[in-house]
Amino acid sequence: MHFFEYKDHQLQCEGIPVEKIAEQVGTPFYLYSYHTLVRHFTVFDDAFKGIPHLVCYSAKANSNLALLRLFTNLGGGVDVVSGGELYRALRGGAAPEKIVFSGVGKREDEIEDALRAGILMFNVESSQELHAINQVAGRIGKKAAVAIRVNPDIDPKTHPYISTGLKQNKFGIDILRAPAAYRLASQLPHLKIVGIDCHIGSQLIEVEPVIEALRRLKQLVEDLRKEGMEIRYLDLGGGLGITYEDEEPPHPIEYASTILEGIRGFGCTLILEPGRVIVGNAGVLVSKVLYTKENEEKRFVIVDAGMNDLVRPSYYGSYHQILPVKEETREEVEADVVGPVCESSDFLAKGRKLPNLRSGELIAVMSAGAYGFSMSTNYNSRPRIAEVLVRDDQMSVIRQRENYEDLVRGEEIPEFLIR
Ligand SMILES: Cc1ncc(COP(=O)(O)O)c(C=O)c1O
Repeated sequence: MHFFEYKDHQLQCEGIPVEKIAEQVGTPFYLYSYHTLVRHFTVFDDAFKGIPHLVCYSAKANSNLALLRLFTNLGGGVDVVSGGELYRALRGGAAPEKIVFSGVGKREDEIEDALRAGILMFNVESSQELHAINQVAGRIGKKAAVAIRVNPDIDPKTHPYISTGLKQNKFGIDILRAPAAYRLASQLPHLKIVGIDCHIGSQLIEVEPVIEALRRLKQLVEDLRKEGMEIRYLDLGGGLGITYEDEEPPHPIEYASTILEGIRGFGCTLILEPGRVIVGNAGVLVSKVLYTKENEEKRFVIVDAGMNDLVRPSYYGSYHQILPVKEETREEVEADVVGPVCESSDFLAKGRKLPNLRSGELIAVMSAGAYGFSMSTNYNSRPRIAEVLVRDDQMSVIRQRENYEDLVRGEEIPEFLIR
């Protein structure tokens, strides 16, 4: 569900024609719908209302300050995986006691910042990290709240790059070794065990792997409780998928009700870390067709957004629906939609049947709100693009387009090269 629709043959975001926004901010740009974001967060959050829970929006999906503020206003917490995301969450107004900090490679300075901020808990991914957090907490006179991120060795049945809960993945502590990690944590003086965590993967289309992970985690919690350890938070991570093409992921209500069945009465506050399901379909990438060309084999539509702006198609082979901003009846042709970046892997769509697009017209690359801007780079010295948020008939540029000065900020030509 989203609020990008044709009205009078013009694609609109809520109450504003996309073309109008393009006239004001130029192309390419990311465009987000406020009411879609609110609806997605609220539906997800409400789906769990039968039990104590906290929805920690996963900042990595889209970490713009405006979005972080929006979810904070709705009562959400934030799942962060770096000092930078922690900084953004706090700048966005998140309550520190609703922030969880995941990630396999937390640095000491990041740990210290999180401890000083007073976050809810660290999701710890190795025994050495337990020692590191204990040492930093001791040095600054704090007690660190920790959960162990358990790797339950479950196949989430998604793309291998976004599977995280299998033995071959770098994430978490193997479930068989987790009890030893908990015992270690219980002996370290500056740690306080508060929870258990897992995240098995992203773009999940089936709920069964999550339920199996929950079952394994609960078994472990029961064993830990027998040893006198108190587990107050059970964090099931994020991962619920969305429809990009023809996938049929469970609706959040269906997803939640299966989880609720498994956790009701277990004595833990449930934490969830959704990203994609909240922002994915709430954003599009708007780009302009620069040129078209063809050879004996192929037709190319060359647009002004490239893999540096939206890497998902070239990185994961992902599908994004492409719509012309102006709807009109015309013949369909098969084409590759490609960007200006000097890589053959720079494409937004391959061999796609599309309305015959013309030079100068606008397209919308749909479902680009998650892992779009947040994975964008400056490759080929391309300034990162603007982000716009629309609410009804109001629009706001929530991130300015970078300029060339931004590209070289921090770079210096050393004295010995100057002649
Ligand atoms: C630890 C953790 N939590 C939450 C998420 C969010 O996942 P998604 O955007 O699929 O909901 C991720 C994504 O990879 C993650 O690694």
